[in-house]
Amino acid sequence: MSKATGEIKKITTHVIQAMKERGEKIAMLTAYDYSMARILDEAGVDILLVGDSASNVMAGHETTLPITLDQMIYHAQSVVRAVNRAMVVVDLPFGSYQSNSEIALSSAIRIMKESGAHAVKLEGGSEVEESIRRILMAGIPVMGHLGLTPQSIYKFGTYTVRAKEEQEAQKLLADAKLLDETGCFSLVLEKIPAKLTKEVSENISIPTIGIGAGKHADGQVLVTHDMLGITKDFKPRFLRRYAELFDAIGDATQRYIADVKSKDFPNDKEQY
Ligand code: KIV
Repeated sequence: MSKATGEIKKITTHVIQAMKERGEKIAMLTAYDYSMARILDEAGVDILLVGDSASNVMAGHETTLPITLDQMIYHAQSVVRAVNRAMVVVDLPFGSYQSNSEIALSSAIRIMKESGAHAVKLEGGSEVEESIRRILMAGIPVMGHLGLTPQSIYKFGTYTVRAKEEQEAQKLLADAKLLDETGCFSLVLEKIPAKLTKEVSENISIPTIGIGAGKHADGQVLVTHDMLGITKDFKPRFLRRYAELFDAIGDATQRYIADVKSKDFPNDKEQY
């Protein structure tokens, strides 16, 4: 039984769209492994994103660029095995869709076929239109991603708020309308002004899902490890932390070490 809704109802693109239409906010979180995905799914999260942030969070890279398609598929397979209710969306990693639409389609097909996920996400607007159209024509749902797009970090040079200037804001709005018309089922807006998120959300039919994009998005996403305080030093203004697991896990580990050293663990009842 899902704790959020009281019933097991699989989340599909239609459910997500209906949520926007009735004003119910969509809750999305990242997941990269079976155990965490199981907890998040049972808690009732609507969408699990197998984000390429796995490159940072799981592998310790500085950017999302190094993670490969094979590695994304491995993470996605683990998440899909855990899920009963949530929709599973998988990031197309850097290099798996930018060269041309044929490569984009074959990468998306590999993700869907080999992991059993329900949709893919890719970064960009008009530059990737042809690839999005081709993936959609194969029957694969696509989530867009505009604003701060971490795969282009070396073009931006910083992780600061995007689209503060009018020209960039207008380009983002035009791209959002394009992704809507093209047939994407939802759109991530990362680190843009709240006012722009409001304008985009009111002017496209598909749900927007914000991260650092303010309260007007139709849904919210956070990186789970940030939300749970596992990544200790990452504290941007937009992040609300719901636990301090870095400290909690550290404390538990220190107690375990102390018990082993003092010969308290295992005791007579904890052996055969
Ligand atoms: O990879 C990721 O975690 C993401 C979210 C930040 C939206 O793309």
